[in-house]
Amino acid sequence: MAPRIPLASALGRGQTERPVAVLDVGTSKVAALIALIGGEGEPRVIGSGQKPSSGVKRATVIDFDKTEMAIRGAMDQAERAAGVQVDGVIASFAAGGLSSTMASAEIDIAGNSITPTDMVTLRQAGRAAIDPRGRSVIHALPALYAMDGLMGVESPLGLHADRLGVDIHVICADKPALLNFGRAVGQAHLGVSALVATPLAAGLAVLEPEERDIGVALIDIGAGSTSIAVYRFGIPVGVASVPMGSADLTDDIAAAFATRRSHAERLKTLEGAAMATARDQTDAITIPPMVDDGSIEPIRVPRAQLVAVIRTRLDMLFGEIAQALSGLGFVGPQARRVVLTGGGADLRSISDYAAAVLRCNVRVGRPRGLAGLPAAQEGPAFAALAGLVLWSLGDSGDIWHQPQPGERATPKRGLTGVFEKLWGSL
Ligand SMILES: Nc1ncnc2c1ncn2[C@@H]1O[C@H](COP(=O)(O)OP(=O)(O)OP(=O)(O)O)[C@@H](O)[C@H]1O
Ligand SMILES: [Mg+2]
Repeated sequence: MAPRIPLASALGRGQTERPVAVLDVGTSKVAALIALIGGEGEPRVIGSGQKPSSGVKRATVIDFDKTEMAIRGAMDQAERAAGVQVDGVIASFAAGGLSSTMASAEIDIAGNSITPTDMVTLRQAGRAAIDPRGRSVIHALPALYAMDGLMGVESPLGLHADRLGVDIHVICADKPALLNFGRAVGQAHLGVSALVATPLAAGLAVLEPEERDIGVALIDIGAGSTSIAVYRFGIPVGVASVPMGSADLTDDIAAAFATRRSHAERLKTLEGAAMATARDQTDAITIPPMVDDGSIEPIRVPRAQLVAVIRTRLDMLFGEIAQALSGLGFVGPQARRVVLTGGGADLRSISDYAAAVLRCNVRVGRPRGLAGLPAAQEGPAFAALAGLVLWSLGDSGDIWHQPQPGERATPKRGLTGVFEKLWGSL
């Protein structure tokens, strides 16, 4: 076993790379990565871990002890591989009905040149304008600046204006889901230095900068939930979530063919598809019975029957996705590109299916931008996990979680740090 050395002291003196630990608590798996960032080239993964998740339902923690065990197990594996010990993580969050609102603020500049102090004043006015309506703020991201009513000014610093305004993209979630998540992570003796909405993390790992600029919707189909982020002008402009995922396909298959979930899962991943082919009418697949004692024979059905069960659920899921996209304003000529990710995007022919029902160009996005990502974590199920590392590279410009005057910026352990602020947001 590798020695458990505190993360900071694992690095040599004068070493420019710094370590970052990230955690994705999903409905089907809990996954962790430790990477070195700040050196030349891409961030480098030095440890990874993964455990099945059984204390999480629809991305929401419903059992503290089981979730704590899975978090400890995944982080332990990553720590052993990296030879370091972690006490703070950047974590993803997809529960609590993640959704977006906009807040705006405007200040008087009186024709002067806009100074850094004006920008601070504007952001503070923006922060004060946020009304979470009983929910907790996960992100408050200044989106577009406006000068004298002219929208879409990227960097107003130094320009002259009478009035300077900003629209803030506010992403909120329900407080109880956040509290339960915070408690499970705290029980695993980890502090959360930053919490990132899952679709924003996944978007960083799978989207091309030009896609984000032109307009794209990122859809992360997990086991129990589907989260969506719409990008335009290079930034996220809307987030939504649907409490349905690929595990619902598995449950439907188990119910339709009276078989075990484990068999249904195998059938879905090995034989399943979103679109039937001509061969599916003639090719037969074997479905094991619920009871394995030999009293009931396995049944043989055309593969097309399996695809039909999958399609019924996909039609429901994509009906909800289409509604969410239109609620986010993802309509019209700039809304023509969709990227699917999450483990559910591994379903055969899902991109063709999604292209037909959403009337968009669709591709499946796999995580990029990390060196040394283990082969087992190269698939779309690990987009959010990889994106968390990339999140740590930049400054999101979040005005909610920036330390306020007199506050300490250091991450704290357990149920403090980010969570203290999130709870305080009510
Ligand atoms: N080849 C495949 N075909 C269809 N589904 C697949 C395939 N591979 C994995 N899946 C499904 O992907 C899901 C897991 O995806 P993922 O790991 O993204 O979910 P999660 O992050 O644990 O859950 P959530 O994000 O909902 O909390 C499972 O339901 C699994 O059955
Ligand atoms: Mg997930």
